[in-house]
Amino acid sequence: MSQQIQGDPKAKPFTAPGGKHGKAMFFAGLAAMLAFGWIVFPYIIYKSVDQPVQFSHMTHTGDNVALTCDSCHTFSADGRFVGIPTIDKCATCHSQSKGVSDDEEKMIANYIKPHREIPWVIYSKQPQNVFFSHATHVKLGGMDCQTCHFGRIYTRDLKPALISRISGYSLDVFGKNLINAPYTPSRGMRMDDCSNCHHERGVKESCIDCHK
Ligand code: HEC
Ligand code: HEC
Ligand code: HEC
Ligand code: HEC
Ligand code: HEC
Repeated sequence: MSQQIQGDPKAKPFTAPGGKHGKAMFFAGLAAMLAFGWIVFPYIIYKSVDQPVQFSHMTHTGDNVALTCDSCHTFSADGRFVGIPTIDKCATCHSQSKGVSDDEEKMIANYIKPHREIPWVIYSKQPQNVFFSHATHVKLGGMDCQTCHFGRIYTRDLKPALISRISGYSLDVFGKNLINAPYTPSRGMRMDDCSNCHHERGVKESCIDCHK
């Protein structure tokens, strides 16, 4: 009997329940949780919002229609950045259909004829506590638009914006640390991108310079 209390010399050393398989299962479980947290969860948080009209920058800034960026994205006389052009700008060329695409027809019927603005989705919209001025960067800083915006605007189709259901912010601005898919967000919009450049160029970089 005493031998049994002291333990069977042939008995295996203590292992976690399930032995080697237990360890494998633990790591499989961990991987599944991480995958859920990093990949699946963000997809649950972000809803996909389609652009109301498929508008192509490639078409409008190419050889055929060679508009410059600032012919549509203008600065007003007081230096404010106007942002996305109003429907009047589009109507100068699209008051009648050119028969180029279904989206052009849709745009004329739904927006130009009834004179309604197109509710474009903005990918780069910053949180409300961030102060950003185009005039400072483009006029004073002498920067090209492409310094901060590249990639997406030249692709033929406007990919749906991924907007967080919780914060209302776009994945391009807010989600890069969470996940870098399904497409690579344009760079130059995250806090690190802002402050890296400010640091390099010796521009003010204390919290209250950018946050209000
Ligand atoms: C014919 C007018 C027109 C011209 C010319 C034009 N754009 Fe646009 N731009 C738009 C419209 C309309 C949108 C909104 C739809 C979209 O996001 O593509 C837009 C959106 C954008 C956005 C997206 C902002 C965001 O975060 O959602 C950027 C950046 C931009 N334009 C930069 C440029 C640059 C750089 C050029 C010059 C190469 C240019 N645009 C030329 C009409 C124009
Ligand atoms: C200077 C004239 C001009 C202006 C201004 C203009 N467009 Fe166009 N647009 C064209 C021409 C020309 C085409 C056809 C180009 C082709 O098929 O090669 C076109 C094509 C389109 C199409 C078909 C799909 C595509 O993009 O190729 C859409 C949608 C469109 N434009 C929307 C807009 C919107 C929205 C605005 C205002 C922000 C606008 N356009 C301003 C000339 C213009
Ligand atoms: C230093 C970086 C930087 C440069 C340079 C820059 N942008 Fe932006 N752009 C931004 C940021 C950041 C936002 C988001 C602004 C916000 O949330 O108010 C933005 C937003 C936009 C939008 C969305 C519409 C709006 O009013 O919010 C358009 C269109 C745009 N930029 C076009 C341009 C064009 C055209 C140029 C060149 C004339 C340009 N940008 C230069 C950083 C930049
Ligand atoms: C590529 C470089 C670059 C990037 C990216 C950039 N900035 Fe700047 N920023 C500058 C420069 C250069 C100036 C100074 C311009 C001048 O006054 O000549 C400036 C000035 C500013 C100012 C004005 C500070 C003052 O003097 O009051 C603010 C606010 C600001 N940036 C916010 C931002 C934010 C927010 C972002 C990111 C969304 C950003 N910037 C991204 C280069 C950059
Ligand atoms: C050069 C501009 C700039 C400066 C300087 C800056 N921020 Fe930001 N900050 C931003 C922008 C743009 C965002 C939104 C995009 C993002 O979340 O990356 C942001 C987001 C944040 C957020 C939201 C949380 C998050 O997910 O990132 C916090 C908190 C924050 N900043 C705190 C600070 C503090 C504290 C400082 C000073 C040490 C500071 N910021 C300095 C531009 C700036």
